[in-house]
Amino acid sequence: MLERDIEQSKQQRAGGDHYRAYVGPPKQYDFMGATQFRLVTALGLREEHRYLDVGCGSLRAGRLLIPYLMPGRYYGIEPNTRLYKDAIAGELGQGLIDIKQPVFFDDASLDLRVTGETFDFIVAQSIFSHTGLDMLEGALSSARDVLAPSGQFLFTAITESAPGFGERSPLGRDAKGWIYPECVSFSEDEITSICNRAGLQAQRLAWFHPRQVWYRAVTNPDMLLNCQHAKIMDAGRVLFDDRFQTQAGPKNDTQPKRAYTFFNLRHLREHLAKNKTKRIRKE
Ligand SMILES: C[S@@+](CC[C@H](N)C(=O)[O-])C[C@H]1O[C@@H](n2cnc3c(N)ncnc32)[C@H](O)[C@@H]1O
Repeated sequence: MLERDIEQSKQQRAGGDHYRAYVGPPKQYDFMGATQFRLVTALGLREEHRYLDVGCGSLRAGRLLIPYLMPGRYYGIEPNTRLYKDAIAGELGQGLIDIKQPVFFDDASLDLRVTGETFDFIVAQSIFSHTGLDMLEGALSSARDVLAPSGQFLFTAITESAPGFGERSPLGRDAKGWIYPECVSFSEDEITSICNRAGLQAQRLAWFHPRQVWYRAVTNPDMLLNCQHAKIMDAGRVLFDDRFQTQAGPKNDTQPKRAYTFFNLRHLREHLAKNKTKRIRKE
């Protein structure tokens, strides 16, 4: 019965009525949850952490995170409450919710302070591909206020290296409010300078995404990723599945990827100076 319903949902287009289709291509519902789970666990998510899923939708990632985290640690903001209610009724079961006590907020402001909490991880997957400049700025500045001192904020956006940048997704700087299911793009410079103004330092990640680009923002400069972190973490690419051969960023590259970018010139200079000192010491 559930399997038949899932197969039928795959006939719908992204943005369709079914809870699996509304949030994106229904054929990738499983993958888009799994890749978020892999990313945050690769970045150190542990069961005692507090996690905020911004626009949690039909729990694509939540259905993996809720069982993983300790009770009361998963928070979701979602104005379209029928999405997670349908997912709970259809796939997760009320029993799991009773045990793990996720906390949901029915709120459309994208002001993350509505939660009244601070978080070790905040994730906004495929949210800033649907916000005008006003909402993006508001969300990023509120993220700073609810990020724990060593917290990590992961988000996706359609920037220059994403396949739909510009032509298929008009520029978000000219848009206002929430735009859906259409998408908008921002330049990487816009993303990073809005982050900087909000008191966040952002790095682009090489983590695989079929349509967008992953970013990671922190308030504590000690939490920025370096080359060693990037090597350990790798790039979340997919083997043995032809559906995931295209992605934002270079393809068919078997070299270890640089999973970070320096946006902040000061940080780049410090990094180069540190490495130069190390080289001189070795010589
Ligand atoms: C493309 S879906 C992504 C869902 C989820 N992050 C995921 O990866 O599965 C966008 C989600 O944002 C929700 N949304 C719409 N307006 C919102 C708002 N103002 N604040 C937060 N979420 C919103 C939609 O209902 C939808 O669930």
